[in-house]
Amino acid sequence: MTASPRNAARTALLAATTFLAFGAGSAAAQQAPDRPTERQVRAWAAACAACHNTDGRSIGGFPVLAGRSAEDTYRALVEFRSGQRPATIMHQHTRGYTTDELRHIAEWFANVKPAR
Ligand code: HEC
Repeated sequence: MTASPRNAARTALLAATTFLAFGAGSAAAQQAPDRPTERQVRAWAAACAACHNTDGRSIGGFPVLAGRSAEDTYRALVEFRSGQRPATIMHQHTRGYTTDELRHIAEWFANVKPAR
């Protein structure tokens, strides 16, 4: 699979649009967000499948996310977003998510059983 920057940008835009569509709640709800439903977190994580394969069981050189410790994945994601960790794609992609969302996504992948 090739990962062109254009595809990455499209994926990021889709993630951002999806977030806007689903995230437009009341001001009160935005101040104190409830824990997202599993369905919501699964939808966020689905945006990663374009490169990291279904459920993060990556093939073809992309890092495997399935079963990786949540703390590890979370740290990588926030470091990508801040530019602290070098990246060709992930620094852009992580900008579409809040810190809270990145944590939920990291926890979600940690609970996926890795492929054999
Ligand atoms: C367009 C392709 C693409 C998409 C979409 C994508 N990734 Fe990545 N991911 C990469 C590439 C390429 C790397 C290697 C770092 C780099 O060059 O950006 C990477 C690296 C990572 C790493 C670091 C792994 C390591 O061992 O250092 C994590 C964690 C990660 N991605 C998680 C995610 C999550 C979570 C999502 C969805 C929110 C996601 N990625 C979406 C391509 C992608």
